[in-house]
Amino acid sequence: MQRTYFLFVGALALHFIATSIIVASNQNNTVDLNALLAFKAAIFDPQRIIPTNWSTSTSVCNWIGITCNARHHRVAAIDLSYMGIAGTIPPQLGNLSFLVRLNVRNNSFHGHLPTELSRLRRLKYINLEGNNFEGELPSWLGALTAIRYLSFRYNGFSGSLSGRLSNFTKLEVIGLGFNFFTGNLSEEFRALPKLRVLEIESNQLVGPLPQALFNLSSLQFIGFTSNSLSGYLPAHICDYLPQLQGLYLSWNYFEGEIPSDIGECSGLQVLSLSYNKFRGYITKDFWNLTTLTVSYLGGNDLTGKLPTSLCSCICLKYFW
Ligand SMILES: *[C@@H]1O[C@H](CO)[C@@H](O)[C@H](O)[C@H]1NC(C)=O
Ligand SMILES: *[C@@H]1O[C@H](CO)[C@@H](O)[C@H](O)[C@H]1NC(C)=O
Ligand SMILES: *[C@@H]1O[C@H](CO)[C@@H](O)[C@H](O)[C@H]1NC(C)=O
Ligand SMILES: *[C@@H]1O[C@H](CO)[C@@H](O)[C@H](O)[C@H]1NC(C)=O
Ligand SMILES: *[C@@H]1O[C@H](CO)[C@@H](O)[C@H](O)[C@H]1NC(C)=O
Ligand SMILES: *[C@@H]1O[C@H](CO)[C@@H](O)[C@H](O)[C@H]1NC(C)=O
Ligand SMILES: *[C@@H]1O[C@H](CO)[C@@H](O)[C@H](O)[C@H]1NC(C)=O
Ligand SMILES: *[C@@H]1O[C@H](CO)[C@@H](O)[C@H](O)[C@H]1NC(C)=O
Repeated sequence: MQRTYFLFVGALALHFIATSIIVASNQNNTVDLNALLAFKAAIFDPQRIIPTNWSTSTSVCNWIGITCNARHHRVAAIDLSYMGIAGTIPPQLGNLSFLVRLNVRNNSFHGHLPTELSRLRRLKYINLEGNNFEGELPSWLGALTAIRYLSFRYNGFSGSLSGRLSNFTKLEVIGLGFNFFTGNLSEEFRALPKLRVLEIESNQLVGPLPQALFNLSSLQFIGFTSNSLSGYLPAHICDYLPQLQGLYLSWNYFEGEIPSDIGECSGLQVLSLSYNKFRGYITKDFWNLTTLTVSYLGGNDLTGKLPTSLCSCICLKYFW
């Protein structure tokens, strides 16, 4: 009798635990489902792929553009790139607490990014490139401490970048080019030890590049073409940038001499410094850059002799 009682209680307990796991799991799935239904409602899809495919008769994990993680069956990735859709990002998307990747590249999304996205603590990859998003670079982005890849290129973002880029300690790639960002970068780039690609071309940045930038030893590409940046390049630019492959600073107001030790940047492939106010003599050492494939130096006040072998791609005085 006693044994049966214990068995019964045990079975009841097991049943209770199992039920609560299922309920918890269902609740979590409901959170993801509600978030994606809110997203669906905020999307305009002229081809009607999402309205028909994102159907509640099947799990969100089977929906087009949605990937769930194997362990929890929670939404881990959203990839709606190149789908020809429009709309906004609703605040409910911040409820997708297992989201790792968000890619809506090359669509016509617009509006501001909701603050609720700051709750996506697992987010590693966010690509909003080629849409019509607007507003400032949100300060809450600093809360996304897992972020490694961030591209907001080709949108309508604006406002000052001053003080906005310092907290992403794991960031490897940041692309903010082709927006309307203003301000200086004097306080930036203190703690970005993993940064490989820094691209903020075609904006309205002013002031000098901070010294700390030239100390980020993982950097491979630095792109600030077409801003209003000024100041001098550090004399020993390559000492702390051993991995540098591309330096794109054309169409700014940089001045002074081209660092004489640039020949020591042993991996440099593209050097684009045209249309600035650089002056001085290009020394022979410059041409020790055996890895260099493209160099734009025109539109400055430079003198020096060109090795004839390089003349086809390197022009001091002419276009580029
Ligand atoms: C449900 O979500 C909570 C909080 O996000 C998490 O702690 C829990 O493990 C999840 N449960 C299941 C079954 O996925
Ligand atoms: C939605 O799209 C996915 C991927 O293309 C497909 O496997 C699935 O069958 C579609 N579901 C519906 C209901 O159309
Ligand atoms: C989801 O997000 C919305 C808006 O941010 C919030 O009001 C709601 O309570 C959240 N729902 C759940 C189930 O977490
Ligand atoms: C991106 O979208 C635009 C406009 O919808 C389109 O013209 C362009 O071809 C797309 N780019 C790619 C690489 O698909
Ligand atoms: C960066 O981190 C510091 C210290 O944790 C915090 O005070 C500051 O608000 C953060 N900045 C941004 C832009 O998130
Ligand atoms: C950079 O911009 C910030 C914020 O607008 C401002 O407080 C600071 O004085 C500027 N620094 C320089 C060197 O212009
Ligand atoms: C750059 O790094 C070197 C060596 O780690 C250090 O001595 C120097 O103070 C740093 N400079 C800046 C501007 O952070
Ligand atoms: C450039 O090459 C010449 C001859 O090979 C060498 O003497 C000089 O030290 C090199 N300069 C640099 C900066 O590496």
